[in-house]
Amino acid sequence: MSDATSFDVIVIGAGPGGYVFAIRAAQLGLKVACVEKRATLGGTCLNVGCIPSKALLHSSEHFEEALHKLADHGVNVGSVSLDLARMQARKDEVVSANVKGVEFLFKKNKITWIKGEARITAPGAVEVAGKSYAAKQIVIATGSSSIDLPGVTVDEKQIVTSTGALELDKVPGHLVVIGGGYIGLELGSVWRRLGAEVTVVEFLDRLVPTMDGETGKMFERVMSKQGIKSKLKTKVTGAKADETGVTLTLEPAAGGEAETLKADVVLVAIGRRANTEGLGLAEVGVALDERGRVITDHFATNIDGIWAIGDVITGPMLAHKAEEEGVALAELLAGQAGHVNYGVIPGVVYTWPEVASIGETEEQLKARGVAYKVGKFPFTANARARAMGDTDGFVKILADATTDRVLGAHIIGPDAGTLIAEIAIAMEFGASSEDIARTCHAHPSLNESVKEAALAVEGRALHI
Ligand code: FAD
Ligand code: NAI
Repeated sequence: MSDATSFDVIVIGAGPGGYVFAIRAAQLGLKVACVEKRATLGGTCLNVGCIPSKALLHSSEHFEEALHKLADHGVNVGSVSLDLARMQARKDEVVSANVKGVEFLFKKNKITWIKGEARITAPGAVEVAGKSYAAKQIVIATGSSSIDLPGVTVDEKQIVTSTGALELDKVPGHLVVIGGGYIGLELGSVWRRLGAEVTVVEFLDRLVPTMDGETGKMFERVMSKQGIKSKLKTKVTGAKADETGVTLTLEPAAGGEAETLKADVVLVAIGRRANTEGLGLAEVGVALDERGRVITDHFATNIDGIWAIGDVITGPMLAHKAEEEGVALAELLAGQAGHVNYGVIPGVVYTWPEVASIGETEEQLKARGVAYKVGKFPFTANARARAMGDTDGFVKILADATTDRVLGAHIIGPDAGTLIAEIAIAMEFGASSEDIARTCHAHPSLNESVKEAALAVEGRALHI
């Protein structure tokens, strides 16, 4: 096989898992190729996920501030209007700059980008567009796609997945979101801020059901105060789209009388499933679990020389989790000790206020029978939050009752997604709440709420 078709490792998929793996493996001296079927690098995250959604969240926040908040700061901007075409164009520019950035990093690290859809034909053999490539190792990093809801046919115009919801060229009068999770609340927030009426239909009895209970309740109150309506314990049984909009049929989750709900646009956001079709996995014998994810043990599949990382394997479907796995696997394949600490992976919902969590929830600790202490501090008592006028929320730290080791933290409030990093580092170092409490924090900063919550674990918060 020629030099151009033979590699130490071929990674399939150029999302945060695959492209970060490729960079780290190349840094460690491996000869790397990355196959990507999309026209650009960066995967779901950079093209149709994290990045475009955060661009629209940021822009829509500015719009809402100009409409409702700046006057309170003594800033009068006159009449405010929405240029949605410009907002969307800016989002596309942000995406384009990011995906080109990955292309630059591939060149810099001498990673071969093979364009097209990959299929594994045997251990060590990959086929793309009729051409065969050889590699000592193959990494599956093919990511995930939106789950379909039976009876609700996506057309990406009136009935959309997150991809269509990022592209709307008109603010819908009424947006109905099916699924009260990460996507539903982030993209629901975008379109609500831009003027849509938003209703979230959630099957379970609460929004973002995996969230710490108390934090979730506060989040629901804040979302509702902002005007997002929710219909909990409700299932959608069908959808009919015509020129007047979409008519949804709903039923109580436990069964009962059906009702209808009219929408201009329906966003289906009920979770994502692993991308494993068309890869030749069954033929090669790679085992999948009951939810269609590749089964791995330290990223190794059941077939020698075939590995998997990111959304396509078990664990939270988050970009930074995929990246950590990419780095760890590259280091393993280069003979080092790659490792991911799954107990310390933050999760952030980028609404405003943001919601960030790490480690265990109170519910999980109770279920495990762990004795814990709670330290909580509200942003209403934080000087910086007051200066900003952003006082909704709190920092909550959960510490082991015996050892004081930090077991988890849940933050709802301004910049919660940034504040959680301090706790991630503390947990990574096995810190106690006392360690955080004794660390000097700048004043006036939002981070002081983290210190105060740590102080509150022993009932000695200073400003409450
Ligand atoms: P992906 O990013 O899905 O990349 C897989 C790539 O593989 C794709 O580009 C695909 O085209 C390619 N591929 C698949 N099959 C083949 C094949 N046979 N041949 C060649 N190429 C193939 N996560 C966060 O942490 N923070 C966020 O703010 C966030 N926001 C999100 C917002 C939205 C709207 C969505 C949908 C997701 C968001 N996520 C977020 C989740 C995040 O995007 C994923 O967890 C992350 O992209 C997973 O990375 P990955 O590398 O495993 O897969
Ligand atoms: P999700 O798992 O976050 O939420 C799906 C919600 O839909 C759940 O609350 C679930 O109970 C509900 N649901 C399931 N079936 C339903 C049904 N038939 N009817 C009504 N509700 C139903 O999934 P989502 O929002 O689609 O996002 C997918 C993943 O993408 C997330 O889990 C997350 O991993 C990732 N993501 C991360 C973001 C971030 O980190 N900020 C932002 C967006 C997505």
